[in-house]
Amino acid sequence: MKIFIDSADIDEIREYAGTGLVDGVTTNPSLAAKTGRDYVEVLKEITGIVKGSVSAEVLATDHDGMMAQGKRVAKIADNITVKVPLTWEGLKACRGLRAEGITVNVTLCFSPVQAMMAAKAGATYISPFIGRVDDAGEDGVGLIRDIRAIYDNYGFETQILAASIRSVSHVRESALAGADIATIPASIFKLLLNHPLTDKGLAAFLADAKKAGVEIRGT
Ligand code: E4P
Repeated sequence: MKIFIDSADIDEIREYAGTGLVDGVTTNPSLAAKTGRDYVEVLKEITGIVKGSVSAEVLATDHDGMMAQGKRVAKIADNITVKVPLTWEGLKACRGLRAEGITVNVTLCFSPVQAMMAAKAGATYISPFIGRVDDAGEDGVGLIRDIRAIYDNYGFETQILAASIRSVSHVRESALAGADIATIPASIFKLLLNHPLTDKGLAAFLADAKKAGVEIRGT
């Protein structure tokens, strides 16, 4: 499964991209607002840090506006993916942008049928918001499972990008449910390797080696 960072914070992105384990970045208008900086400038910087897909969300809600903004942000760098909302206008813009060879992430997906329609519109990525689905008292990971089944039934190539991730369990369950990608906030990314037995085991290995004078010598 690919791992994206869900952030517009340059320091955070740089820190985690340094692990070599970040395959892409997703941003949205709320994340952009938190930076207090110009969105286009921020996107430009992110595309210089991460080679994989960087999602840039349009702010227009009509087809023509989304096409214009989509084409504008796509010019920033080759790895920009234009993010459009899952509306009729958004899916029309998705078709239009795909026809121009631009990759598209269809966002704000909350149902399997919405995801099917986005795939029919040629979406490169579909973003089911599993945390917000859970918040609404429904089953976020179940949504991933349903989309996976529909895409596999009909051979849709749209990649499932699990979004609105709130925990390490969300990452595990999304992987088991067949998501192609999980976009993860930095606060969760840093917890991905945590396990108390790893820390305890390492401490014991090092203590045993020290006690017995075990060393690694030579080149
Ligand atoms: C990413 O593409 C989404 O915009 C993001 O994951 C939404 O997360 P939230 O529900 O925590 O705002």
